[in-house]
Amino acid sequence: MRYNYFMEKECLFSGKKVQVGIDSGYDNYIMAIESSCDETACAIVKNGREVVANVVASQIKTHEKFGGVIPEIAAREHMDAINIVIDEAFEQSGLKPNDITAFAGTVGPGLVGCLLVGLNAAKTLALVHDKPFIGVNHLNAHLCANYIDTDLKPPFMALLISGGHTQIIDVESYSKQTILGETIDDAVGEAYDKVARLIGLPYPGGPKLDKLAQSGNPNAYELPISRVDGYNFSFSGLKTAVLRLVKRLKEENDDGSLTEKQVNDVCASFQECVSKTLAKKLKKALQEKGYKQVVIAGGVAANSEIRRKIFDFEKDGYKVYAPIMKYCTDNASMVASCAYFNTNTYDDVDVEVFSRA
Ligand code: KG4
Ligand code: ZN
Repeated sequence: MRYNYFMEKECLFSGKKVQVGIDSGYDNYIMAIESSCDETACAIVKNGREVVANVVASQIKTHEKFGGVIPEIAAREHMDAINIVIDEAFEQSGLKPNDITAFAGTVGPGLVGCLLVGLNAAKTLALVHDKPFIGVNHLNAHLCANYIDTDLKPPFMALLISGGHTQIIDVESYSKQTILGETIDDAVGEAYDKVARLIGLPYPGGPKLDKLAQSGNPNAYELPISRVDGYNFSFSGLKTAVLRLVKRLKEENDDGSLTEKQVNDVCASFQECVSKTLAKKLKKALQEKGYKQVVIAGGVAANSEIRRKIFDFEKDGYKVYAPIMKYCTDNASMVASCAYFNTNTYDDVDVEVFSRA
């Protein structure tokens, strides 16, 4: 028997039933809003895979001077940007509110004040235009970025690496996912940002560290690879080792600061250690489960060396998926895709935002 994959959702005002998902039998256009951290984003995605509008207003310039995201300021900036990104998404797509199948918004995890802005905008749009509302988990959305412009279907193994999370996830079906392992302390992105800060790179440090690492020698300094059981990770020991190394190098130099070559080598050695650890555990999970497909997702999936090491799995017969850069970091297209595939969504319009997974 053929399994029909769609969900019946209710229009918020009239209560009319609408089918959303792969087997709904008509083209779905989902508008989604993402505002969990420092990006105000709105997108419209056709049938979960085809982006017809993708708008992102970044607050990097604002938070750069503080060296990190200030939640209260971020929430206010979301307020300023939210209507603009929604209008822009409609304009890019040429669609009208009535063409939209359902409105989706990120529920969490993220900064509560920030989430409230985007989620309430999504709920309001659904109510005003009498359409269903679909609440989405930000982490599931990152995974779903891999459905955009591809024909990827579960089952597959996933490595989710962002500013707040590091997880190996067994994705058995669109809605059944099991976390096999995660970090017991810092997330990978957090480790990147902390190491970047200690060598004096401006926020957000991850991408800048990645760039410098490309001019450095990955074998210049030996750094410890944490030994944690199973599929869990630990990055705090590595961060401390880099701190000690930088301190020693600075003391050895006459002017008390690192040379350009030393900075590049420290970055490359750190990046080598992180990417090796991630790739090794991911490979083990794949072999154990016997899957032939693997995806990477989250802001850190934009990292050049992590991508290179994981794409190398293709030499062993695996099919590797990674979103293009703009769908790796926070965006609303991934949220729309997640809503379409019904990946653990929240349909109740009263759903509250939450800060931690
Ligand atoms: O997924 P994301 O946009 O936001 C969260 O949900 O956390 O990820 C942001 C994280 C930051 O820690 C940032 O430094 C890191 O992703 N990141 C990178 C790179 N691009 C972004 N880390 C290493 N290399 C990169 N190229
Ligand atoms: Zn994110």
